[in-house]
Amino acid sequence: MSGSVAGAKAASETREVERVYGTLARVYDAVFDWALRPGRVAAVHALDLGRGRRVLEVGVGTGLSLETYPRGTEITGIDISEPMLRQARARASEAHGRAISIRRMDAQAMSFADASFDHVIAPYVISVVPDPERVMREIVRVCRPGGSVVVVNHFVHERRFLRHVERWATPLTRGIGFRLDTRAQIVTRATGLEVREIQSVNLFGWWKLVVLRRRAAEDTEALRRRRSARADGVAEPPYVAGASTGRRPR
Ligand SMILES: C[S@@+](CC[C@H](N)C(=O)[O-])C[C@H]1O[C@@H](n2cnc3c(N)ncnc32)[C@H](O)[C@@H]1O
Repeated sequence: MSGSVAGAKAASETREVERVYGTLARVYDAVFDWALRPGRVAAVHALDLGRGRRVLEVGVGTGLSLETYPRGTEITGIDISEPMLRQARARASEAHGRAISIRRMDAQAMSFADASFDHVIAPYVISVVPDPERVMREIVRVCRPGGSVVVVNHFVHERRFLRHVERWATPLTRGIGFRLDTRAQIVTRATGLEVREIQSVNLFGWWKLVVLRRRAAEDTEALRRRRSARADGVAEPPYVAGASTGRRPR
């Protein structure tokens, strides 16, 4: 596929996601507030806020996490859907003691300068965007070296049968705003990040909380060199969908 055709396809998929969430906004909280709350709370608690207070929340939605941040946090929330953001702005005005800025922006092409934030959190958005790899690259770019990056998401299951079911069901779930077949490695192997911890969260542990650290540029370059020296036989990282809590990388 040529670059311009791929670009046009991605733009049209992004508009479709925006349209879906424009409709979902009316019922979003009723369906997804309590069900996904444990993951949101765990994600905010996993941020290393002692080492910087500027947080970017990617896909802030209706702002359900905003109250979870400790007072004194400076939060910038971005989202593609204006109807979702309207509710986030209303919540922001009630979340006293935090400096909150809510902006409409595509997470695949953010307008922030490099290293603008101490931490980036992305709750339930990686399996929603058409190009999750691009979002991860943007997250790495806007997070300062040493900052924490926390992703909560459902990833495609490791077990072969469930993986097939989730792949089969994904064309249906896309119509209601998310995919079931997102690979965990898009997050765990994103260039410039190192995995600190993986936990299972929410009902049946079907979602994963992935805590990462933004590497310094020199570390990323050293890793890239080690990987290319090992050539093609590099194994996938020790991530297992469905793994129990508290997993740490070797
Ligand atoms: C499943 S909702 C999660 C909302 C919120 N994080 C939560 O915890 O409830 C996914 C959100 O991602 C937003 N989104 C989808 N594509 C996006 C994009 N390209 N850039 C920014 N936000 C996007 C949607 O509008 C929606 O609000």
